[in-house]
Amino acid sequence: MEKVISGIRPTGNLHLGNYFGAVKSFLEMQNEYDCMFFIADWHSLTTHPTPENIRRSVKTILSEYLACGIDPEKAPIYIQSDVKPVLELYLYLNMNAYLGELERVTSFKEKARTQPDNVNAGLLTYPTLMAADVLAHKADKVPVGKDQEQNMEMMRLFARRFNRIYGVEFFKEPQSFHFNQKAVKVPGLDGSGKMGKSEGNAIYLFDDEATIRKKVMRAVTDAGPTMLNQEKPEPIRNLFTMMELVSTKETYDYFNDQYNNMQIRYGDLKKQLAADINAFCAPIRERILDFQNNDDYLRRVAAMGCERASESAQHTLDEVRHIIGFR
Ligand code: TRP
Repeated sequence: MEKVISGIRPTGNLHLGNYFGAVKSFLEMQNEYDCMFFIADWHSLTTHPTPENIRRSVKTILSEYLACGIDPEKAPIYIQSDVKPVLELYLYLNMNAYLGELERVTSFKEKARTQPDNVNAGLLTYPTLMAADVLAHKADKVPVGKDQEQNMEMMRLFARRFNRIYGVEFFKEPQSFHFNQKAVKVPGLDGSGKMGKSEGNAIYLFDDEATIRKKVMRAVTDAGPTMLNQEKPEPIRNLFTMMELVSTKETYDYFNDQYNNMQIRYGDLKKQLAADINAFCAPIRERILDFQNNDDYLRRVAAMGCERASESAQHTLDEVRHIIGFR
């Protein structure tokens, strides 16, 4: 069975964009592939979070993954910093990663620009750690968004380079995985673009009913259609896209017809959409709370993940040490 590995930096709660863009497909993937999901807390150190910060965000992602339906028996969930063999591989990969190529990575340049007083070596070697995360398990596929393509290229480059330097066919080149070809891009409700934490337009799985309502009622609209069956401008299309994700087909068709015959009342549409988003999130929110109050269970899940991931990574590392010449 093909191996799939996915990492997420713990930076806060999951939002609907994360859910429909990635997590939902993980739920299918875990049945069809040999999956591992991990929380990249080492990577998060590049932006200097506080210890409390780290503890809280790691626990949040873990609870939310479980609440969404990732089954840790099928697909281990582990915390990156629990699996030490990856660090040693990171060191070896760094010996064959060059300053020039690391400096040319767009996300490095971007970070160097936005945090000029914290251009640390971890930031520079972010792609080698990411390569170690995946190569340590000899994974075949990595579900990633467009923004990670360059990191994936670097990973393949490091894999090829290792093989070439040591004259072996050891690492395979992990492929970017677009599980759902027509991956849903969840729009923000602020008029244009996609939903994102940094865009400040996110609706979180954990948001309560009042918060959801407030966010949806604030959504950008226009003065209404002026012609029958007219094409929807982006802010309106976004509301309908969201509706397609969380509402029934009847509801969607009802408001679509209302739009097409120019009878739409955006207030009604928003109320319905808020109710449907809440109906979608409420059971997940309940489960998140349950998991967050069950530290014993979370610890067991992480321990189980650590065991499976450490075994796999140590196996690779033993061979790598042998290839490099350590006996
Ligand atoms: N760089 C990824 C992101 O920011 C997180 C990540 C770290 C990752 N290591 C990984 C993703 C390994 C996939 C595989 O989204």
